[in-house]
Amino acid sequence: MNQRSISVIALTLFFCAAAQAQTVVGNASAGQYESAMCEGCHNVRGGFKTEFPEVYRAPMLNGQSAAYIAQCLADYRSGVRRNPTMKAVADILTPQQIANLSAYYAVAKNQKMK
Ligand code: HEC
Repeated sequence: MNQRSISVIALTLFFCAAAQAQTVVGNASAGQYESAMCEGCHNVRGGFKTEFPEVYRAPMLNGQSAAYIAQCLADYRSGVRRNPTMKAVADILTPQQIANLSAYYAVAKNQKMK
């Protein structure tokens, strides 16, 4: 391997690392699609309750700021905020899905309630 190919590889690695370090930008329409897995518990008209593992109230998410939604999900993942159901949900979300869902709920209106 000559010096030129080594520098090409080094440059490629550098740009890959730089691309990964970029902050993830949320896409609200992708988030609307992904929110199908949240709506069974959240934004349900009349009570917002889930019965597993105990009876919990599932809060309204529509209209919450993107930063708030993302922070809640991060807290469930890390265990700062404890709830077995939301821990399980937050654990399977990718950073991109979290950004999408946060962007979506920030613009979602309460009229969309089922
Ligand atoms: C099986 C029911 C269930 C599902 C599915 C579910 N959640 Fe939750 N969620 C809850 C419950 C119950 C709480 C309240 C937990 C607590 O007391 O901390 C909650 C809390 C939250 C909170 C904190 C809101 C606040 O104001 O404190 C956020 C954000 C959240 N969920 C996002 C989501 C997202 C996004 C999805 C879909 C990817 C989702 N949840 C799917 C039941 C659910």
